Amino acid sequence: MIRPILRYGERPLHERAADVTAFDDDLHRLIDDMIETMYAAPGIGLAATQIGVPLRIFVVDLSVGRKAEDLIVMVNPVFVERDGTQLEEEGCLSAPGFNATVIRPGRVLARGANRTGDEQTIEATGLLARAFQHEMDHLDGMVFIDRLRGIKRDVIVRKIQKLRKSGKW
Ligand code: NI
Repeated sequence: MIRPILRYGERPLHERAADVTAFDDDLHRLIDDMIETMYAAPGIGLAATQIGVPLRIFVVDLSVGRKAEDLIVMVNPVFVERDGTQLEEEGCLSAPGFNATVIRPGRVLARGANRTGDEQTIEATGLLARAFQHEMDHLDGMVFIDRLRGIKRDVIVRKIQKLRKSGKW
């Protein structure tokens, strides 16, 4: 089932998510909904907080459904290593129409569980590392806009506030 994606400013998007404790049918249904919602958007990543579910789960697929092996489901993820730097444009399904350059580590080693609860460790560089960190931020209640500083951030936030006031957000 495709779920509505929350937008910047909607409260559940800005709250920290809790660990998953049960790998049951409800979790599997939620993960399936997240994958379907990500593909329908379309997007390369989605966190549970973006559909208003405060649990530490994200899905990432750089191929957006074209290659089955590219789909990654991460439950209760943590970064065990982070190094290097990358500086690229970033966007978000929760802030359609906005992009900004965000500084991120260039490489991460992420550990978490897959959908059945088995531990998995995935090394990521480039865009995949960026996607992991972007989605991990969502699980901590943070959108990429919150990583910007000064005028860059103010301009985007002001535009979003205007859109909200006119009912276009
Ligand atoms: Ni996002």
